Amino acid sequence: MRKVAPIDQRKADHIKINLEQDVRSAISSGLENYHFIHEALPELDLNRVDTTLSLFGKKLNSPILISSMTGGTDEAEAINFRLAEAAQECGVAMGVGSQRAAIENPEQAKTFQVRRVAPEILLFANLGAVQLNYGYGIDQCRKAVDMIGADALILHLNPLQEAVQDAGDTNFADLAKKIEEVCKKIEVPVIAKEVGWGISARTARLLADCGVSAIDVAGAGGTSWSQVEMHRAPDEFTRELAATFVGWGISTAESILNVKKNVPEMTIFASGGIKDGLDIAKCIALGATLGGMAGQFLKAAAISTGQVVERIKLMKRQIEVTMFASGVGTLKGLELGKLANL
Ligand SMILES: Cc1cc2nc3c(=O)[nH]c(=O)nc-3n(C[C@H](O)[C@H](O)[C@H](O)COP(=O)(O)O)c2cc1C
Repeated sequence: MRKVAPIDQRKADHIKINLEQDVRSAISSGLENYHFIHEALPELDLNRVDTTLSLFGKKLNSPILISSMTGGTDEAEAINFRLAEAAQECGVAMGVGSQRAAIENPEQAKTFQVRRVAPEILLFANLGAVQLNYGYGIDQCRKAVDMIGADALILHLNPLQEAVQDAGDTNFADLAKKIEEVCKKIEVPVIAKEVGWGISARTARLLADCGVSAIDVAGAGGTSWSQVEMHRAPDEFTRELAATFVGWGISTAESILNVKKNVPEMTIFASGGIKDGLDIAKCIALGATLGGMAGQFLKAAAISTGQVVERIKLMKRQIEVTMFASGVGTLKGLELGKLANL
């Protein structure tokens, strides 16, 4: 049997815990506080409602993102390929999970290399930004992008996750200037992304100053990484530390508005507790371009490609019906004025 290195073990734990345990945040996405103003006379043909968009040079059939999750193990490879097949069939975007394992262990690259089944999708590479303080630089960032033929690079920000785990990488000092350097040198757009605790006004401005092309707010309201770490804690001290933060973070709705108000031109991806296409439509009306989901797609991909396709089709229809009943024919028409705040 192949020896499982600690980084692989971590990835395997993440999948297992996310599939088997309740790891939801104690706070909600905030999207339930908004509803669309119903239009009884929409003056639209439902069959002509248009959910297509162009982003980073790629055309998408709908504003749906399969959020960054996994890679590195045989099980993760199967999940990545199912997600990618579904993304290709449905014309949506996808991110792979952190590629650090494959940078350090090149034979794992194949578990991330989904272009074989998804030649046309908008595809995002992924590395932890904090690795820029642990010996990584532009070379590793380029390797991650080249490894999978990505259209853009996601640098994820997960300070709390690192802080509540045993032996996490917790030196986040002076990281902004290193992110800025990557943005300046790399040939593809850079996206900064949280992992489930959201983006404040200060962080939004700081990231904009670094020169990122987009921010995925990954707000609180869905998967809580302190809960995931709680379930894999090696001792009671670490378990209690992680459990403390079940209600931490900035909700997804608030995070979108923080970016929109402070950096109006920034491209925003929304994720964190998004349930369905109606939630995605709300995020777009608040200012986002794409709505991403992780936990939900993981559960579908654990079953089959077909399950992922079915989920995406339902979400696309939910977005179309929301737009239709709100009197909006194109994504550009989904704006703040279409929403009422409860
Ligand atoms: C199993 C799993 C693994 C994840 N791994 C990564 C990762 O490697 N890199 C990353 O940026 N985010 C990662 N995430 C975070 C998600 O991309 C997403 O931001 C977060 O889970 C919130 O979305 P959700 O509430 O729909 O799950 C992971 C999420 C899950 C469920």
